[in-house]
Order: sequence, then structure tokens, then C-alpha cells
Amino acid sequence: MFNKEIYIKRREVLKKSVKSGIVLLLGNGEAAMNYAGNDYIFRQDSSFIYYVGLDTPDLAYILDIEQNKEYLLGDELTIDDVIWMGNLPSLKERAAEVGIDNVRPFTELTTIIGNGLKSNRIIHYLNPHRYRNQLILSEIFGEKAYAIISGFSLELTQAIIRMRLIKSTEELAELEDAGKTGYAMHIVAMKMCRQGVSEREIAGTIEGLAISVGNRVSFPTILSMNGQTLHNHNHSGILKPRRLMLCDAGAENLNYYASDFTRTTAVDGEYNERQKNIHNIVLHALNDSIAMAKPGITYKSVHRNAYRIIFEGLRDLGLVKGDTEAALEAGVPALFMPHGLGHAMGLDVHDMENLGETLVGYDEETKRDTLFGYRSLRFGKRLEPGHVLTVEPGIYFIPQLIEKWKAEKINADFIRFEKLKDFYDFGGIRLEDDIVITSQGCRPVYEKRLPVTVEEIAEEVQS
Ligand code: GLY
Ligand code: MN
Repeated sequence: MFNKEIYIKRREVLKKSVKSGIVLLLGNGEAAMNYAGNDYIFRQDSSFIYYVGLDTPDLAYILDIEQNKEYLLGDELTIDDVIWMGNLPSLKERAAEVGIDNVRPFTELTTIIGNGLKSNRIIHYLNPHRYRNQLILSEIFGEKAYAIISGFSLELTQAIIRMRLIKSTEELAELEDAGKTGYAMHIVAMKMCRQGVSEREIAGTIEGLAISVGNRVSFPTILSMNGQTLHNHNHSGILKPRRLMLCDAGAENLNYYASDFTRTTAVDGEYNERQKNIHNIVLHALNDSIAMAKPGITYKSVHRNAYRIIFEGLRDLGLVKGDTEAALEAGVPALFMPHGLGHAMGLDVHDMENLGETLVGYDEETKRDTLFGYRSLRFGKRLEPGHVLTVEPGIYFIPQLIEKWKAEKINADFIRFEKLKDFYDFGGIRLEDDIVITSQGCRPVYEKRLPVTVEEIAEEVQS
């Protein structure tokens, strides 16, 4: 938790950017795995954490703009709570720690919002992703869940996105801390990348490392020899010689900030020529994207540039052919990299994705593309100092996708399908770093860079 002045200041800024009405921020409740006595580990809503700082379930925050009044809603612990879950300072004391004076029982949520509705006040709330929060709002508003979901406040959402997207000095220190753990996780994964070791053992070891110094992982670890499956959570393989292990993993630190790195390591650190060639194209795309990222240019143009490097690199290897600009227009590189170059990162690894990916990553000026590959770019707009982003180019050989394009003759003038058959057992290579945009360009969020060339990675495995 930060000191209370930070939360007070954030709420003051929010108050000035929402013109009128009542702002309601719902915290999360516990979520049962299969029954209430066995919950998922509690995770507070990130916007609630950002403005209110309290990380226990069943809280809500209300800010009445016209009356200039704010409330924390929640219930004091019962003796049963204390027996089973332990003691905490009173809610009044905890509210005081984040600069809130008025504490009300949770049931008053219905009264305060209900009174606001009766007086035709605007009630601003965020798109509720958790079913429990949809239900709470549904009951208060007397509306079906779909009406609640579509009725979120665009004004509040945009105000929050503007604030959360620009990371303050204290937030950057937290992100750096998460980066430090992410770095350690990947070094361990590289060292364990030996034939005969199971993917599960490596994934479990690095997830344990994240838990041992922070909250948990920032997303379920992606670790597999089948790196062509972009979000592969199947860790059932045993590492084999001549294969690659793609590891995409990060940590959430004690203040809920994320890291997200990817490295692809040859088993035993032994790369063959084909693997080196593909690795070097991805590395070129990574380094060029980092060199290009600076205030004033769109991330969409950085993504397109990465696509250019990937297309030209694969053309040098004889896997594709034709004119670069025409290939980029047609979306040819998407066959090899069907995902976006990166996303915003902060209190969530895909920062604020629950508020609307397109609202976060695009604006009036920079619209989201519709073409396959380009459309998966989560963040495309003009970069500003304080943006924190991932840069994660990749090249994958997805046999089913290649076969589909071949059968449907998609971009057939550009692709040497006959050559791609040799790559059906390749897997995929992704390399991912985390950057913060500065006044001049960008810098790594965590200053130490993970081994990234084939030589550096091989040395890390074998040392
Ligand atoms: N690290 C997983 C992702 O960015 O989607
Ligand atoms: Mn990522």
C-alpha cells in the first residue's frame, strides 16, 4: 500500500474529471472454486486498489461529486470472521489509512445508490466483469445483467484510463520490483531447460518463486515446447533434445503490479541453424521495436514495422516472397505472428483490459484495424511518457493455420507453402521485454535485461 496522500490525490483528480453524479467503485468479493469454503485466492479489483488501496473482499467506494462526499462501504469483522480468517484493524481505521472518513455498512450501498436513482442522478460505474458485481448492480438498478454491462459509464472509464495509463514514479518502482522477480523466474527456467526435465517442474518452480516473494504470478505461466500455441498452459511435456521451450511468465508483486517476459530457449542450450535463424529475426524485430518506441509515434506503426522485419527476414530464408509493402497491406506476416506486438501493463498484466481493450489501446485518432493479425494489437495509439508496454514479437509455425491458408489460397502469391512443411515441428519463438516510454524514447522497466541472443541464452543454460 502507498501512503494515504497518494490515494487522496488520485481521488481528487478523479473528482475533477467526472463532471457530475455519483461514482461507484465496486471491490471484488471472494470467488468460489466449487463451493464457498474453498475459494480462489482473493484478488481485489485493480481500479479499486488504485483509488482505495484496500485489498479485502466485499468493499465499495462511493464519491458524490455534487455533495463532495465520499464513503467506504463494508462490514466490520464478526467474531466468526476473526476465528476463521484472523483479525484486522477496524474498517474505520483501515479507511483512515487511505484518507476516507465516512464508513457505512455494505447494505447502505443500496440506499445511497437507490436514493441517487430516485433523484435522477447519474450513477457512474465501471463495466463489471465479475458475475457477483453484475448481480449486485442488477439488483440495485432493477435491470438485467446485459443492461448493466452495457450501461457502464464511459466518462468514468475514460477518466480512469487516462490516469492509470500514465505510471507515476512510485508505480514505476513497483513495476521494477515485479520485473526483478520476473527476471529471476526466467533465469531459473533457462537453467532448468535440460532434456528429460518436465515442463511442469519448470513451470511449478518459477511460479513458486513468484509466490515466495510476491503475491503470485501475473498470469498463468505459458511454458511449452509447443510454443506455436500462443497461450499454451499445457505443461505435460518432457523436454526433448533439438526442441525449443517457450516460456512466457511474470510476477505480481506485493502491491499488485505485474511483469511479463518471454524467452525461448533451446533445450540444453543447443540451437540448430534453423532455430538460430528464426530467433535472430525475432530478436531483430524486438530490438528495432524498442529503438523505435518513443513519444509521438503510434504503437500501431511499431507493430507494422515489426511485421516488416518478420516478413523480410522470412523472405531472406526463402519462406515467403514478394514486395514488402504489398505483403504488409495484405497481412501476410500474420500467418507467422497472429498476435499484437504488445499491450499496456500495470496493475494488470493486460492493463485495464476489463475496462475495454479498445478504449485503453485506441482513440479517436488511432482506430483499431480489422485485418487478421493487426486486429489483435491490444494497444495501438500514440505513445506518451509514462506508458508501460510489453514488446513481444514472435514467429510461429502453426500447421493448422498454414494448411488453412494453403487450402483457401490466402495470400498464396506471397507464401512458399511447400517450404513451410519442413517447419511443422518447429514450434514458435517469442521474445518479450517490458518498457516504459520516457521523454526521449523508452527504457526497460527493470534495468537488467534477460539473456536474449542465442549465445547469451545458451551460456545461461550451460553455466
Ligand atoms: N503474457 C501473455 C500475454 O501477453 O498475453
Ligand atoms: Mn505479454
